[in-house]
Amino acid sequence: DKGGYKHFMAKEIAEQPQVLQGALNHYINADATAMTLPQGLDFTAVNRLTMVACGTAFYACMVAKYWFEQLAGLPVEVDVASEFRYREPPVTDGTMAIFVSQSGETADTLAALRYMAGKAMQIVSVVNVPESSIARESDVALPILAGVEIGVASTKAFTCQLTTLATLVLHAARQRGRIDDAALADKLAALRALPGLMNTALGIEDRTVALSRDLAEARDILFLGRGAMYPLALEGALKLKEISYIHAEAYASGELKHGPIALVDPHVPVIVMAPRDSLFEKTVSNMQEVMARGGKVLLITDSQGAAEAGDGVWQVLLMPSIDPFLAPILYALPAQLLAYHTAIAKGTDVDQPRNLAKSVTVE
Ligand code: M6R
Repeated sequence: DKGGYKHFMAKEIAEQPQVLQGALNHYINADATAMTLPQGLDFTAVNRLTMVACGTAFYACMVAKYWFEQLAGLPVEVDVASEFRYREPPVTDGTMAIFVSQSGETADTLAALRYMAGKAMQIVSVVNVPESSIARESDVALPILAGVEIGVASTKAFTCQLTTLATLVLHAARQRGRIDDAALADKLAALRALPGLMNTALGIEDRTVALSRDLAEARDILFLGRGAMYPLALEGALKLKEISYIHAEAYASGELKHGPIALVDPHVPVIVMAPRDSLFEKTVSNMQEVMARGGKVLLITDSQGAAEAGDGVWQVLLMPSIDPFLAPILYALPAQLLAYHTAIAKGTDVDQPRNLAKSVTVE
């Protein structure tokens, strides 16, 4: 049931504030003072995390890497399952393995999990389907509680994966004595505020409809981001490719001058995902390099970022201000809306894009 929407993807984008609220109710108490995570999740003796997944779930792992390193002081290795499983990496003592999968049935991710069984201290999965193979074969399975996701392009599963991982990171930070009670309460309150901010962010939909008509004319589109926004740039490019069939690529902003800037010309829109955080100034200088070469920049930022971005930006999409920790969750929404409306403008099949399956259960 599409619930009155034209596509499952549109419904799944729109219901994110509500499903995320459900996930938050599951993991965090109402006054944002405590978390409830399954027993047996012990980070005290862990000295390394290995995170493995495919596609959008892999980008969720990439975001979590920044979080685990910065907040919990844990080194993290992230890999796509198809590479990890055949690389057969050595596993050192004190390694915890985390697998992220919406379906819980992705063949490569399951094979990577089986490789780590008996080698890692603990196998943790972050899944949407609790009775899936990946959940069943883990020591601890954390549900993301997104509800059934039908659109081939993953949307609400991504934001619920990130929310679940954010809670897990805070749990690890607390167990490892890396965060004090006041800072923890602050982060939990910020998580609790997310559904409201998402509702506000969804208010940009009309603007994305207009912008998408321009994007639909492009042959190539670049996405840029720094820090935890780099994986969001990758996710934005994947979403756009999947359903609009426009060639899109993402780069860490600082990589621009190491090659991709050669692609910039007035016909290549460059979508910059940059909340006003500690790295913003650096991103502004990358943006100026793009504009100096005639590139048209679509900047997704907050009001402070917009005020400091300077002249020459083609378009700005305004997000509400948010704790930089949680910006990757909120900024998934404009990425999804731009992909969706660009696909609509091109007339492609949004829910069943060509050549793709919802769940990749064979290699
Ligand atoms: O079910 P999984 O999360 O394991 O699926 C992983 C990928 O196949 C999936 O995220 C894919 O990249 C989506 N189509 C992205 O929108």
